[in-house]
Amino acid sequence: SAPRIITVGSVNLDLVAACETLPRPGETVTGATFAQYPGGKGANQALAARRLGADVSMLARVGKDPNAELALALLRKDGVDLSRIVEDEAAQTGVALIGVDASGENFIIVASGANAELDARDVEGAGPADAVLCQLEVPISAVIAASQIASKLFALNLAPAMPVPAGLLETADLLIVNEVEADFYGDALFRGDGLVAKTLGRDGSVLYRAGKEVAHMPVYAVPVVDTTGAGDTFCGALAVALAEGMEEGAALRFASGAAALAVTKEGAQPSLPWRSEVEAFLADKA
Ligand code: RIB
Repeated sequence: SAPRIITVGSVNLDLVAACETLPRPGETVTGATFAQYPGGKGANQALAARRLGADVSMLARVGKDPNAELALALLRKDGVDLSRIVEDEAAQTGVALIGVDASGENFIIVASGANAELDARDVEGAGPADAVLCQLEVPISAVIAASQIASKLFALNLAPAMPVPAGLLETADLLIVNEVEADFYGDALFRGDGLVAKTLGRDGSVLYRAGKEVAHMPVYAVPVVDTTGAGDTFCGALAVALAEGMEEGAALRFASGAAALAVTKEGAQPSLPWRSEVEAFLADKA
């Protein structure tokens, strides 16, 4: 049966301008095209897990404004349980301003709004679940509360990198970092005995257990359109695979395949692949 996953994290509306080259500070670039999509690392990971076969419940805060429904639209459409989403009386729905250049690189500015108001009480009492998946776009008190409701797999994507209590890293069953985050946390990533997954951009990804490499995946060569959401896809996919009991190497391969598909389309959530697409993609790969 489908694993049950609780995602505790951010919900944003992404305002995306696609342009030839990204501006430097003080520079104005013209000729961009504009689109808006549902986003937020928490919501992206929730939707990724849902499309990859999990029963997913999203715990988050949005504002009482028109952006909230736009930001939740795909989660709702694809059947993520939204019954524990809190509408904040005072704060706005989170917004991310995103620029994407012709090579698929991006910058992201997040105005957290209601995400910054997510509270331990919004999380307590949720569950049970086969996995609890979190990121760092919400207050650390909410992330700690999430670690406490996790009875099986507690997966923490340390994005964006920021100081966290050492004990939180040690209690995680799975930490997921990119290269920037890996540099930020350094040895602290390896003090617990859980899994650490590191994504290396064009160099693929590695999985460690108790500090020892247990799996490595080169990156799948695909046409890069927009890398936004690829990391979130990787996180959602790895959580689903491990919650299903997939072997570690197979789980890393599944996450790599899912992330590869996510970079081939624009937008975070519209680009998230379905399980059948990942399986078809991987079927003709070594
Ligand atoms: O990881 C990508 C996400 O980061 C975007 O969807 C944006 O909302 C920011 O939270």
